Amino acid sequence: MNPAVITSVETMLEKWKGREGNEIQVFEEFRLLTAEVLSRTAFGSNYLQGKKIFDMLTKLSILIYRIYFKARIPVISKMWKSADELESEKLAKGIHDCVMEMVKRREEKVATGESDHFGDDFLGLLVNAYHDSDVTNRLSAEDVVDECNFAGQETTNSLLAWTVLVLTIHTDWQEKARKEVLEVFDEHEYMIINETLRLYAPFAAVVRKVRKGVRLGNLVFPADMEVLIPILILHHEPELWGDDVHHFKPERFSEGIANATKYNSAAFIPFSMGPRSCVGMSFATTETKIALSMILQRYAVTLSPAYVHAPFPLIALQPQHGIQVMLHSLQSDA
Ligand code: HEM
Repeated sequence: MNPAVITSVETMLEKWKGREGNEIQVFEEFRLLTAEVLSRTAFGSNYLQGKKIFDMLTKLSILIYRIYFKARIPVISKMWKSADELESEKLAKGIHDCVMEMVKRREEKVATGESDHFGDDFLGLLVNAYHDSDVTNRLSAEDVVDECNFAGQETTNSLLAWTVLVLTIHTDWQEKARKEVLEVFDEHEYMIINETLRLYAPFAAVVRKVRKGVRLGNLVFPADMEVLIPILILHHEPELWGDDVHHFKPERFSEGIANATKYNSAAFIPFSMGPRSCVGMSFATTETKIALSMILQRYAVTLSPAYVHAPFPLIALQPQHGIQVMLHSLQSDA
C-alpha cells in the first residue's frame, strides 16, 4: 500500500505548489486523497470506478443522516417517500451497479483468458469468494456490495484532518513531528495520532447486539438488546483520563497506550475492540503517518482565521465547516 499512498500524496502536494500563503481546506483535500489511496489499493486497475463509489458513499451518508433526523408522520411516511429517500435509493442502486460492473469486468477477463485470476487486491478477494465452490463460504452479490461499503475512507479522512488541525494550534508538537520526520523516528507522530484519535475519534460510537442474555457485574443484558458503546464519551471521561481530559496532551501516550489508560483496555478504543474491531487499523495509521510526514517536510501549517470549530458525527466525526489552514513553504524551490 505504501507506493499507492506516496504516489497519491505526491499528486496532492503537486497541486498545492504555488498555493503557499493561500488558504487550503484540508478536510476536502484529504477526502480526495483518502478516496484515491483506497481506490488504488482496494480496486487496483478499476480505481476510477472505486473513486466513483466513494463519491456516491459520501453523498449517501449525508442523505442518511438527514433522513434519520427528520420528523416523520407515522402511516404517511410509509406510503410517501421524501426526495432524500428517493435520492438515497438511487445512490444505493448506483453503488450496487458500479460494484457489480467491476465484478463483471474481472469475470470477463478470466473468461476470455486475458487473466488467469480475479486479482490480488481487495476486489479480487471478493470476486474469488463470490465464486467459492463451497456454498457455505460463498459471498452473495449483496455481500460483495456490502463489503465495498466499508467506512475506511471517511475515517482516515477525519483522522488526517483533525491531526493537521491540532498541529496548527500546538505548533510545538508540529515542530517535534517535523524534526522527527527528518530524523526518521516516529515516536512523536505516534503520540500525536493517538491523542487526536482520543479527542476526535472518527467513529463516535459502535453498536452491538446481545446474542445471549448475560450479567456483567450489577448489569443484566437480555438477549437481543442493542448496546451503544460511546467511544467518544469514554475518551472524554475525566475519571479515566484526569482533569486535563479535554486538553491536547500527546505526552499521555509517551509510555504506550497501556500506561496512558492505566491498563484499562476499554478506555481507548478508536478502532473498537474484540473480534469485530477494525481490520484497517494499520492501513489507516500508516497512511496518516506517510501523508503527515510528507506534508510537514515541505510546509509549516497555520490555522486560517476563517476556521470555525464545529465537529459533528456523520459516518465519521467531521468538521462541519471544513478545516481551513495556511501553508508556508519550507523549501526555496516549492
Ligand atoms: C482512522 C481510521 C479508522 C478508524 C478510526 C476505524 C474505526 C473502526 C471501528 C470503530 C470499527 C468497528 C465498527 C463497528 O463495529 O460498528 C471498524 C470496523 C472496520 N473497519 Fe475501520 N476504521 C478506520 C479505517 C479503516 C480502513 C482504512 C479500513 C480499510 C482499509 C477499515 C476497514 C474496516 C472494516 C472492514 C471493518 C469491519 C470489521 C468487522 O466487522 O469485522 N477501517 N473500523
